Amino acid sequence: MKVILAPNQAAGDQAAFQVFKQVVDHGAHVLGLATGSTPEGLYRLLRESPLDFSQMISVNLDEYVGIDPDNPQSYHYFMKQHLFNAKPFAHSYLPDGLAADPDAEVKRYDQVVVDNPVDLQLLGIGRDGHIGFNEPGSPFDGGTHRVKLTDSTIEANARFFSSKDEVPREAYTMGIGTILKSREILLMAYGDKKADAIQKMVEGPLTTAVAASALQKADNVVVIVDPAAAAKLRPTSISERL
Ligand code: F6R
Repeated sequence: MKVILAPNQAAGDQAAFQVFKQVVDHGAHVLGLATGSTPEGLYRLLRESPLDFSQMISVNLDEYVGIDPDNPQSYHYFMKQHLFNAKPFAHSYLPDGLAADPDAEVKRYDQVVVDNPVDLQLLGIGRDGHIGFNEPGSPFDGGTHRVKLTDSTIEANARFFSSKDEVPREAYTMGIGTILKSREILLMAYGDKKADAIQKMVEGPLTTAVAASALQKADNVVVIVDPAAAAKLRPTSISERL
């Protein structure tokens, strides 16, 4: 795992943008994308850049269950607002939160990822170490599945809703096994609320109690952190300082 320490979030976003640019310039066809606060600055840089995704495919990590794609809280809507409206892809895949048959939806989305192997997967990390919506205890070899969100995640995501009660209790997510199949993985984390999760992911034991620790098994992972998110790391865990 290559850990890059940026002096601040803006510098981290620039570094993440360079990773994306390089991968796209080298002919990547499929980008794996994430939602949440963390990638907002990166998406702004991508929107404002001359990069062209019109011949590429995007595959998102996850979507809430029971939410319409046009609902402003849906991950579909987030992606349109932050990237797709400005930079359309040839095709953008997300799980269908309104799928009538959840088992069929899980199978369909797993096949999407098999048919479109991800060249670069972007990840954020939850305070409890989740990646995608793989909460503590998720198996490292899991595929796409439907998941019940933990209290910690519901609480953290309540800021996007008018009240905690409105946060959906379930989501579809790519599994950790699916994520680990990506050719390259870029995980970004900013702020002191992520410091524990980053420490456990980078230095802690490989354990399903911390989903992100599975990334220790992959040799193609770049982590970009700001000083607050890196605060609990040993200096020797940092590979590069910007
Ligand atoms: C979002 C996702 C989540 C977030 C994580 C961090 O698609 O898969 O794992 O990356 O919850 O969220 P933020 O960036 O809002 O702190």
